Amino acid sequence: MGRKFFVGGNWKCNGTTEEVKKIVTMLNEAEVPSEDVVEVVVSPPYVFLPTVKSILRPDFHVAAQNCWVKKGGAFTGEVSAEMLVNLGIPWVILGHSERRALLNESNEFVGDKVAYALSQGIKVIACVGETLEQREAGSTVTVVAEQTKAIAEKVSDWTNIVLAYEPVWAIGTGKVASPAQAQEVHFELRKWLKENVSAEVAASTRIIYGGSVNGANCKELAGQPDVDGFLVGGASLKPEFVEIIKAAT
Ligand code: G3H
Repeated sequence: MGRKFFVGGNWKCNGTTEEVKKIVTMLNEAEVPSEDVVEVVVSPPYVFLPTVKSILRPDFHVAAQNCWVKKGGAFTGEVSAEMLVNLGIPWVILGHSERRALLNESNEFVGDKVAYALSQGIKVIACVGETLEQREAGSTVTVVAEQTKAIAEKVSDWTNIVLAYEPVWAIGTGKVASPAQAQEVHFELRKWLKENVSAEVAASTRIIYGGSVNGANCKELAGQPDVDGFLVGGASLKPEFVEIIKAAT
């Protein structure tokens, strides 16, 4: 079976109740390809999850931007996977580079989080990606392979994982990876999955690209054989997100 195109919108730490409702209204009114063709998931900050879930069109889904590494309890400020399940939130983004860099989330910690969220029945958008320094040192493939390995060591079933390749140097910078650069890393990630997990997982796992995706560059990126969709930051707060969803066809 082919890999269904996947478009995620990561709203990051942005928005007010009014702004969030405005974005949802825009999405609800948009004409986009059907759910059979593209899976759309938007990720508002925690506090807006119930509101967004209650007003968002039923063919789009919601994701949290993080969750705690294990069962909830005395972990002030954290939100557990169990709570997301309780709210009916089907997806979570884990291992985003902003959390890896700013909150020191290690590869191992991200692997543990992915495994725990999956164990609770939450689907995971797992992020990997190299810094500019690492790219310039020629270690892009080693870095993303190590990040992926830390996840692979903790999970046995990849059915509910979408792997997001997000080069750090392309996030929020306007410097999008060229279609060739994205394809090269996606190809290497798929090859890594084939050699280290299984041919089946490599063929079926969606590998999506994130980093300055917009309405103008999405079509060419989507045309790459190993690019199965996008994780969009800034542009997911704007009407052009609809154009990015349409890149599925
Ligand atoms: O999760 C999304 C990425 O960090 C991409 O963000 O589209 O604003 O570059 P961006």
